[in-house]
Amino acid sequence: MSDFAPLRILTIGLEPKAQQTVEAACDGVEFTRVHNVEEFAQSFEHWDDEAFNAIFCGPGIEGMAGIELAQVLLNQAPGTIKYYVTITTDRYEPRLLVKNGFTAAFVLPMDAPLVKKAIQENVLSGKRKERSFRTVKLLDISGGDQLQFETFLFLPKNNKHIRYTAANQPVEPAKIEKMQARQMTQLWVDHRDMNKFYQHTAKKLRQLGDEGVSSTERQEKLKDCVRTLFTDIFDSSVKADFDVGRETIKQCENIISNYITKGVSSNWYKKLMGAVGEAGDTYNHASNVSTFAALFAIGIGHKAPEDLAMAGLFHDLGMTQIPDELQNVREHELTNEQKQIYYTHPEKSVNMIKNKRIIIPDSVEKAILLHHEGWHGRGWPKQMPAARLSEEAQILSFADQFDYLTRFEEGRVRLTPLDALEAIRKTGSINPELISQLRKLLQKDTELSKSA
Ligand SMILES: [Fe+2]
Ligand SMILES: [Fe+2]
Repeated sequence: MSDFAPLRILTIGLEPKAQQTVEAACDGVEFTRVHNVEEFAQSFEHWDDEAFNAIFCGPGIEGMAGIELAQVLLNQAPGTIKYYVTITTDRYEPRLLVKNGFTAAFVLPMDAPLVKKAIQENVLSGKRKERSFRTVKLLDISGGDQLQFETFLFLPKNNKHIRYTAANQPVEPAKIEKMQARQMTQLWVDHRDMNKFYQHTAKKLRQLGDEGVSSTERQEKLKDCVRTLFTDIFDSSVKADFDVGRETIKQCENIISNYITKGVSSNWYKKLMGAVGEAGDTYNHASNVSTFAALFAIGIGHKAPEDLAMAGLFHDLGMTQIPDELQNVREHELTNEQKQIYYTHPEKSVNMIKNKRIIIPDSVEKAILLHHEGWHGRGWPKQMPAARLSEEAQILSFADQFDYLTRFEEGRVRLTPLDALEAIRKTGSINPELISQLRKLLQKDTELSKSA
């Protein structure tokens, strides 16, 4: 197929929502849509491995399970990228789908950003010279570094990337200092340059005699682990029993000790800034809230920061059972009727955990259930008075709001950690004592990082 031929995508049995998500990410692509067995049988004879740039399948072909579809397609088009995309979580078996031939499996709406990224990077890119950017941590780049690639800033209000440093020239120290002074935490790199970026960080770590991994990689690995954890919870081919539940908790504890609480005592602020700013998809949100909640807990001397980390990982699991249309509305724009539904998600999170026979400490369960309740007594779903909120629930609630305010999102200006704290204080949702403890922490560490 030449570079100039139009891109062609085949969709088989996609649910309307999934079809929409895929097509929205594929501007100007020619689609062939198969909706039922007859169409499938008819179209099947007329194409081979070269015919499509990618194939997207869903559960919409009656009598044809995803796994069967995978096997048929593997024969017909072994070299073509094949994705499985669905909105149906109760019969979703990602592991088996991939084992049987799909390149990857996605569940919506959680994985919508990943579907878009997969399309940009693996289907459109290279053919269309479209640019797709990845974030890298500012902590991995220093003034004077000679980078083999360009870096970019992202302007969320205009949804645009602009070049910040040039390739093959030393990075001006002033540029990095300026970003640090503004508590900015990340830069963007063209996804095709990521190998060069990894070579750069590996070389730098070697020179420093550091055996660890770069901040960027640590954050990426954490996100991958969180996705695997969630996928296992959703995978209906994994049976729900106490052994599996215990395995899930073990998986969760490994994530926490390897990525969240490790090395915090000497590096609190660095750890915090390593997580600030990540775009707000489901997995980033879970890993960020988990990281922030654990860091704040450590910072104020809480006895079990691991519990806060666990609550952070699971707090919004139940969002997957909230209708899509409510998830796309900003929280403050929800009507009261919509709020009644939206704020069932903490309870749904706990139910999902219990249905999978995962046993969590009581304080974690309470924190999850109360993460949208507020000190002002006007929170959701129960307008619980301050006296009935736990310290863990308040830390989790703070971490949740903190992530929302400090992350990059199209069309919205992100806040620095200290400004975010001020904004949260003003809502009255958090105990003023906790706010002043956290303010001291953030101020102290901001000062330290400036003088370092
Ligand atoms: Fe929530
Ligand atoms: Fe949340």
